[in-house]
Amino acid sequence: MKAISYSAYGSADVMEYGERPDPKVGPDSVLVKVRAAAVNPVDWKAREGYLQGALDAVFPVIPGWDVSGVVVQPGVAVDEFAVGDEVIGYVREDFLSRGTFAEYVAAPVRTLARKPLSLSFEESAGLPLAGLTAYQVLHRTLKVREGDTVLVHAAAGGVGSLAVQIARHTGCRVVGTASPRNHEHLRSLGAEPVEYGEGLVERLRDLVPEGFDASFDTVGGDALRASAETLAPGGRLASIADDEVFSYGGRYAFVRPDAADLAQVAELAERGIVTVHVDRVFPLEEAAEAYRLNQEGRTRGKIVVTVDWEAP
Ligand SMILES: NC(=O)c1ccc[n+]([C@@H]2O[C@H](COP(=O)([O-])OP(=O)(O)OC[C@H]3O[C@@H](n4cnc5c(N)ncnc54)[C@H](OP(=O)(O)O)[C@@H]3O)[C@@H](O)[C@H]2O)c1
Repeated sequence: MKAISYSAYGSADVMEYGERPDPKVGPDSVLVKVRAAAVNPVDWKAREGYLQGALDAVFPVIPGWDVSGVVVQPGVAVDEFAVGDEVIGYVREDFLSRGTFAEYVAAPVRTLARKPLSLSFEESAGLPLAGLTAYQVLHRTLKVREGDTVLVHAAAGGVGSLAVQIARHTGCRVVGTASPRNHEHLRSLGAEPVEYGEGLVERLRDLVPEGFDASFDTVGGDALRASAETLAPGGRLASIADDEVFSYGGRYAFVRPDAADLAQVAELAERGIVTVHVDRVFPLEEAAEAYRLNQEGRTRGKIVVTVDWEAP
């Protein structure tokens, strides 16, 4: 099959497009013909070696954890999915090897859900990792409730934009940070926009003098400090980007593949409660360019690669 892979840690320059062996389909997995795969910052962080302390790399590594596609072969123990089913997945294993930037991926069923019918394959590919992160942090870590006022950093990004929509659906007031070019977009998602940078804490205090009931840090550093300084008494703080969060009494979260949670996220999309904004689409061959662009840190929604499609 055609795939993107790299054989050593490094910049986007180590990524190559070429032939790789088709993946074998284990008993608990299904072979998915990939239609689209989304870029996540964790992919380039892993490629640059920042996750070496947590994940072994079996080179050559095919990057990518997000996928949308069609089941072409179920494993022998699988009865959840059949040939032709359209699926989405956050196909993370606890090592780096067989990712989604390829024509096929063997995906354990615990990583999959049915694709929302109302979303395109490109939109659906952007849903699993970012949607699961937003859903698990808001509901499990921060335990947001109707009536809470919630701060979401990088609210125009992949995780932030989904977090805004899920928190709004829960009945929260949501304030989101972004640069001014994204403020109208944030309003369309249901958030009150605030510009980040110098003076952020004062702007947040002007808008929410009583402080936030829950704060979702997706940036770290100054954003995390601003979150800690603007929490209401008893407010909850979570970060997915900076483990300094512990020193503020908050919690660090790392998204888990979870079929039931992913089905919930897919249902929110199916019902039109959350949408995925696709910023740019690249062909698989140009995945390195897609990663370079995401690494600039200005993505609105998701960057997606598509894979040439032929009916199986
Ligand atoms: N621990 C986990 O489980 C987990 C899961 C998912 C993601 N993450 C991490 O969370 C972070 C966000 O992920 P993502 O996929 O949402 O990233 P992303 O989509 O690439 O984020 C891009 C967005 O960040 C905004 N941004 C950049 N600097 C900012 C700042 N200082 N303050 C506020 N917004 C800023 C940009 O908005 P403007 O263009 O308006 O500046 C842009 O819309 C990454 O570090 C990722 O690795 C962790």
